[in-house]
Formats: sequence, structure tokens, C-alpha cells
Amino acid sequence: LGHAVLQARDAVMRDGCGRILILLGDALVFGCDASSEMIAVSKRNADCSVIGFERVPMEKVSRYGIARPKREIVNDTTFILDDLVEKPSLENAPSNLAVAGRYLLSTEIFDFLDGQQAGVGGEIQLTDAIRRMIGVKEVAGYVYPGTRQDIGNPDGYFKALEVFYGYR
Ligand code: G1P
Repeated sequence: LGHAVLQARDAVMRDGCGRILILLGDALVFGCDASSEMIAVSKRNADCSVIGFERVPMEKVSRYGIARPKREIVNDTTFILDDLVEKPSLENAPSNLAVAGRYLLSTEIFDFLDGQQAGVGGEIQLTDAIRRMIGVKEVAGYVYPGTRQDIGNPDGYFKALEVFYGYR
């Protein structure tokens, strides 16, 4: 994912807006406009980067990027990130707050992705670049309402069809 995002650098920088909204194609969100809500959260918090989260059962944390919140702020849906760990084991997971396919990031992320070493799975992870950005800039997490279906697995794919078309 980190490598894929880095390929968009020139196109995004030409646009000059200073921010990039990343929507993972295998994450379908129903019941809310997560992107618009994240933009609103950013505006309320000095235009900081915002990452979309959902709470997952602890036994599933090893599938996701998992947050360690610095402190819960504003309400129980918005927090400042202290750390972000890609696909931790159950024992090492700092919470059950999982990155859920939506990112609103400052274009400074490209500087962190540039030269990012491979991480979990031997892949260049966007999570690892965000983790380094957290060290120098405030990044917020937002638990968006609604549900996410991961169509990268058969279960999520069929659930998404069910929600979208009412299939049974
Ligand atoms: C990617 C990210 C991970 C995130 C997940 C769902 O993982 O690396 O941090 O939690 O998407 O948004 P992947 O599904 O590519 O394994």
C-alpha cells in the first residue's frame, strides 16, 4: 500500500492542495459519508491529517493497522494518535482501534514514504510512514459511524452485496 500511494506523488503534488484523500478500493463503507466526516474532523483540528477507524474484535487485530491513542479527545470517536502498528499480534496490540480504509493525509506523507523500509509481510507499509509522521505532526483518528465491508474476502464480498442490493 505504501508503495502504491507513493506512485501518485507527482500527480498529487501537481494539484497543489497539500492533502490527499486515500480510499482503499476493497473497503466499502455503508451508512455514512466517512470521507466528508473526516474532512470536517480535520477542519475542527487545525487541518491535521485524519485516519478513519473502526473497533474490531480483539481476535482480528492482526489483520489491521492498530492505533494507540494519545488521549481520547472531544468524544469517544475522535482521538490523537500516539502510535500505529501494522498487523500486531493479539498480545502486542495497543487497542482494538483498526485502520478502516480511509485516510486524509498531508502530502508530507510522501516524504516519509520515500525511502520507507519494507515492514510486515516484506511490504512497504503506509502504516509505517504514518507512524513516523506521528512523531513530528499531530495526526487524528476518527471512528466513523456506519459499517465497512472488506470485499477482499468472500464473507465481506457477499455481505456487501447483501447490504447494497438486499440479496439474501
Ligand atoms: C491495509 C492496511 C491496514 C488497514 C487495512 C484496512 O491492509 O495496511 O493498516 O487496517 O488495509 O483498511 P491490507 O488490507 O492491505 O492487508
